[in-house]
Amino acid sequence: MFLVTGATGNVGRHVVSQLSSTGAAVRALTRDPGAARLPDGVEVVRGDLSEPGGLGAALAGVESVFLVWPTLSADHAAPATLETIAKHARRVVYLSARGVPDASEDQTAESILGSHARIERLIERSGMEWTFLRPGGFATNTLAWAPQIRAGGVVRWIHGKAGRSLIHERDIAAVAARVLTEDGHATKKYELTGPETLTQIEQVHAIGTAIGRPLRFEEFSLDAARQQMLAQGMPPDLVDPILNGHAAMVSDPESVTDAVEELTGTPARTYLQWAIDHADDFR
Ligand SMILES: NC(=O)c1ccc[n+]([C@@H]2O[C@H](COP(=O)([O-])OP(=O)(O)OC[C@H]3O[C@@H](n4cnc5c(N)ncnc54)[C@H](OP(=O)(O)O)[C@@H]3O)[C@@H](O)[C@H]2O)c1
Repeated sequence: MFLVTGATGNVGRHVVSQLSSTGAAVRALTRDPGAARLPDGVEVVRGDLSEPGGLGAALAGVESVFLVWPTLSADHAAPATLETIAKHARRVVYLSARGVPDASEDQTAESILGSHARIERLIERSGMEWTFLRPGGFATNTLAWAPQIRAGGVVRWIHGKAGRSLIHERDIAAVAARVLTEDGHATKKYELTGPETLTQIEQVHAIGTAIGRPLRFEEFSLDAARQQMLAQGMPPDLVDPILNGHAAMVSDPESVTDAVEELTGTPARTYLQWAIDHADDFR
């Protein structure tokens, strides 16, 4: 039995369908089973990772867990939740993030990478067999441009020349399904990216190609971007790291790894393929 957490999210949803398509027994965790919309044949269970006392039924009989941690919001419960998972499961595949420091000691979770680092340390000490998936930026992050694209032909955002090797969520899920079902991945940390580095201007053009309508990127001022992110409810502590991260990717574009192809036998999907798969989100 596989327990997939984050089963209603970008990656977990595909982990559920890829595992269940192999005939594996899959249980999906969500806080709201009524809204989950998961495939027939998948057992959907209610559970909250910040409430470890309520996870017993979800974990009963489970051999392996795909863990998506709700960074920051559930960190207070992390030690007890990991201990609970380790009482039941033998193997955990953790959706971490590229750039997580290896040697850091117990981090206070003031940043997303700090939160992932702390969960990695707890998992390492849990006694479970573990593998960390460390993807770079998800292509799904660019769904944030969808309202502007649906409303017109211009995307206003910062640092058009920032180069990113965004990854398709299906490729992360394909790696997860492999690592969950094969031996030989214990104590491995896999850095996952898409197959190419594209500037944000090139990403916008790819979406235009996918939807059959030319699109243009227009530079937005950093102050306006900061105000917009705060107005959308992003915690102030996260805004400047994101803005600074984009600035750094102009002079130092993200690199590409070949881990997806090495692990799945299939090249990672391009950003254009991702845009074609999501064309309806932008129309
Ligand atoms: N976006 C990026 O560029 C990027 C890059 C590297 C790593 N990551 C990491 O990827 C993870 C997010 O993955 P994703 O994009 O696939 O997820 P997502 O689409 O953001 O969905 C979040 C999932 O987490 C579940 N969830 C939230 N709070 C929960 C709780 N308290 N208990 C149980 N489940 C909870 C939600 O389930 P319900 O609402 O159904 O309960 C949902 O399935 C994060 O840890 C993030 O740091 C993201």
